[in-house]
Amino acid sequence: MNHTTPLEPERGGVLPATGGPAVACHGVTKVFGQGESRTLALRGADFEARFGEMTFLVGESGSGKTTLISIIAGLLEATEGEVHVLGQTPSRLSNTRQVQFRRRHLGFVFQQFNLLPALTAAENVAVPLLAAGVPRARAVARATALLSQLGLSHRVSSFPSQLSGGQQQRVALARAVIHEPRLIVCDEPTSALDGVTGRAVMELLTSVAVGPGRAVIVVTHDSRIFNFAHAIAHMADGRVTHTERQDV
Ligand SMILES: Nc1ncnc2c1ncn2[C@@H]1O[C@H](COP(=O)(O)OP(=O)(O)O)[C@@H](O)[C@H]1O
Ligand SMILES: [Mg+2]
Repeated sequence: MNHTTPLEPERGGVLPATGGPAVACHGVTKVFGQGESRTLALRGADFEARFGEMTFLVGESGSGKTTLISIIAGLLEATEGEVHVLGQTPSRLSNTRQVQFRRRHLGFVFQQFNLLPALTAAENVAVPLLAAGVPRARAVARATALLSQLGLSHRVSSFPSQLSGGQQQRVALARAVIHEPRLIVCDEPTSALDGVTGRAVMELLTSVAVGPGRAVIVVTHDSRIFNFAHAIAHMADGRVTHTERQDV
């Protein structure tokens, strides 16, 4: 893979190697609903995730973690505030360009996995490669190899409904990383896994995503995996209260 490929050719920019901000959020607010049901999910959140690092986002249920990463991933729009992702400001792009940008550079693991029920595990994992124009046989072969790396070689032809929660979680992870996106955003990626499998998932994430021009953001409650984080941002009541840095 070529880490010096310009992110957006028309801008001529080359991504910084490590240490610079891969994601920067300033004063982000998010309001859901109106009137009686109005909820202020984010109240001026400031957040940063650096290139070459794994950044964790922790905090009590309802503190705004999923909302913040959904905004970073472009799945939700902020009500106010600035969001910069991989040197771009996605809100300033046209819808088509936003979709292209996400497809090419971002990978997501959702809390609910969101696997396509009519596709096998290998086909689900292959989707981002197919969307990028990789021929089907090659895409499925690559997906099968990645699933084997996650201990699922016997499950490549199974449908999501035939898989346990932990197996579905690993399929969702494989789908998020297969196209080697520059930013991977994961919501509780180890919640359905035992300790050993959880570590395997974090090791895979580290190997694909911690490198020049790349970054990972992980929302988690799982203290068993805190040692994988370069930085841990703590959320409470719609804001990031503080960020700890640690040696990995
Ligand atoms: N789609 C939505 N509609 C209304 N309220 C929402 C929606 N999504 C989240 N919220 C509310 O926003 C707040 C933050 O939620 P969330 O970001 O899911 O927190 P966390 O992931 O930290 O548990 C909560 O009060 C939640 O109920
Ligand atoms: Mg959540």
